[in-house]
Amino acid sequence: MSEALDRLRELQAGDLPVHGGRTLAYVYDSGLAEVDRVGREAVAAHAASNGLDPTAFPSLLTMENELVGFALDMLGAPESAVGTVTSGGTESCLLAVQGARDARPDVDRPRMVVADTVHAAFLKGAHYFGVEAVTVPTGPDFRADAESMAAAIDDRTVLVVASAPSYAHGVVDPVPAIAAAAAARGVRCHVDACIGGWVLPYASRLGRPVPPWTFAVDGVTSISLDTHKYAYAPKGTSLLLHRTPELRRPQYFASADWPGYTMLNSTLQSTKSGGPLAGAWAVVRTLGDEGYLRLAREVFEATDRIVAGVADLAPLRVLAAPDSTLVALATDGSCDAFTICDEMAAHGWYVQPQMSYAGQPPTIHLSVSAATLAHVDEFLEALGKSVMSAVESGPVAVDDGVRAFIEALDPTALSDADFDGLLVAAGLVGDAAEGLAVPERMAEVNALLDLASPTMREALLIAFLDRLQRPTRA
Ligand SMILES: Cc1ncc(COP(=O)(O)O)c(C=O)c1O
Repeated sequence: MSEALDRLRELQAGDLPVHGGRTLAYVYDSGLAEVDRVGREAVAAHAASNGLDPTAFPSLLTMENELVGFALDMLGAPESAVGTVTSGGTESCLLAVQGARDARPDVDRPRMVVADTVHAAFLKGAHYFGVEAVTVPTGPDFRADAESMAAAIDDRTVLVVASAPSYAHGVVDPVPAIAAAAAARGVRCHVDACIGGWVLPYASRLGRPVPPWTFAVDGVTSISLDTHKYAYAPKGTSLLLHRTPELRRPQYFASADWPGYTMLNSTLQSTKSGGPLAGAWAVVRTLGDEGYLRLAREVFEATDRIVAGVADLAPLRVLAAPDSTLVALATDGSCDAFTICDEMAAHGWYVQPQMSYAGQPPTIHLSVSAATLAHVDEFLEALGKSVMSAVESGPVAVDDGVRAFIEALDPTALSDADFDGLLVAAGLVGDAAEGLAVPERMAEVNALLDLASPTMREALLIAFLDRLQRPTRA
């Protein structure tokens, strides 16, 4: 038995650290060991209980209702509001799309209006649920263009989405204007606060300027916010809140049309572990309102100090003054963002590369955690050194042959042979038969992907993941 756990620990040693405040993507660290312990123990205690049937596991229903209640109080939501615990931000966004579609059976070929900065989870929803995404370019301030979004609403529109904030640039969209335009046409308006929902209410209480985004804004019908992000809970939960039970109703699915138990679901999953819900509930109960206020003060201090520190690093600039705790950094062209990300990794920091998009340069994305505050000086020192190294080595050059190879590929028909050819041409494997491993330094791979169109990036990354996900047989 312990052999398996030993091996587990050995494998885990190769992962990004989830504690320590130095991983600025994927994980959110309160820096409080006791809170982490409580979360872990609650997950373990409920790992085998099943959220499929809340009457069989009433503890899960109690925890869900209390967790939703906490979030509604935090947002100052109206008494009518309700909510559901989902498995993560993507599931909350998917359900917002599904619910909007199913609330309008009268609409043939439904559409939703989104800004081009909307999280890709909504494009996944569009894909899964057959809703056409009408994507409106953002303005020069990286915020959704409310006027263009309003103009894009038509009789087929079932949903309009705004972000608070957007992931890529960390700015809050003009929710009042967007929600008003949606309401004027009788259309649902979802605010995606998956990443900002648990910090923005505290930012307001700390006296920071926060553009309006909650149910206090007329026309906002639903909001998603993730507990597994800035509620610092273990992975596996998010909340989808609706202004009224009627708005939530189409989200439910029941089927008695088979000889087994009547299936009754409020989420995409049926059987689901009670672990993540218990973990989130326990962390939220432990931290409470005061705890989150304190953590918000810390994470905003860290964010402000990072933004101020970057002002002294000439080749870098903050793309948009952050409304929340996300910072996107661009370079002046003397060095590239991808090399800086690799250099940061060499200094023990994970920062996330974002590809160029619609004429905007590649960026370095930081999701700042409360635990980062204690290490801001080290962060800025590592960033300074990384920028210097990246300036010295200059922007990554992609080999002309590789560039030509990519340009000749058809993303809609990328074959295994094409992919093998690209891996060899790019020097990522010695020959086509060699197994694929994730390279140590990613700058060259990212520079190569950055040359490709979004459709080609998708095709190449799908081929890459498909190649990585191959069974280990005895
Ligand atoms: C604004 C926003 N929406 C949705 C999501 C998707 O969340 P998840 O990765 O939990 O599925 C994210 C993730 O970062 C996000 O930032």
